[in-house]
Amino acid sequence: MKTVITFGTFDVFHIGHLNILLKAGALGERLVVGISSDSLNQKKKGRSPLYSQEERMAIVSNIKGVDTVFLEESLEAKADYILYHHAHVLAMGDDWAGRFDHLRSLCDVVYFPRTPSISTTSIIEIAKSVP
Ligand code: CTP
Repeated sequence: MKTVITFGTFDVFHIGHLNILLKAGALGERLVVGISSDSLNQKKKGRSPLYSQEERMAIVSNIKGVDTVFLEESLEAKADYILYHHAHVLAMGDDWAGRFDHLRSLCDVVYFPRTPSISTTSIIEIAKSVP
């Protein structure tokens, strides 16, 4: 069974998140999603997610086509996660293009174009600007 793995924070879940999960899932028969932990997100993006890691895992694990979620505790551990979950494909948005090419010795690496004009950051900025 072909297993696909993808990673992200998935905070304030939006259509860009749904689209990449659907595209990643279409590459195989089993979709595994690493959800960035609250502390990893603090390191990666310099802020705490609005939704806790438990809430983000609950949301993503209930998306149709997602088979397994786990907490991603370290950006440097991708190879370990790929091996542990027996992934054949790593799928990421193209904001990460080229960043995981060194993992091609372990699995296929696919970068999908991001859904235009939406991000968690922009949603938070818009919400903040509403009087
Ligand atoms: N993603 C996407 N299209 C978007 C936003 C995100 O394809 N418009 C993808 C990312 O490329 C990544 C996954 O969704 O593979 C999770 O991204 P994440 O960083 O959690 O979402 P963002 O909306 O980019 O968050 P932020 O604004 O905090 O960077």
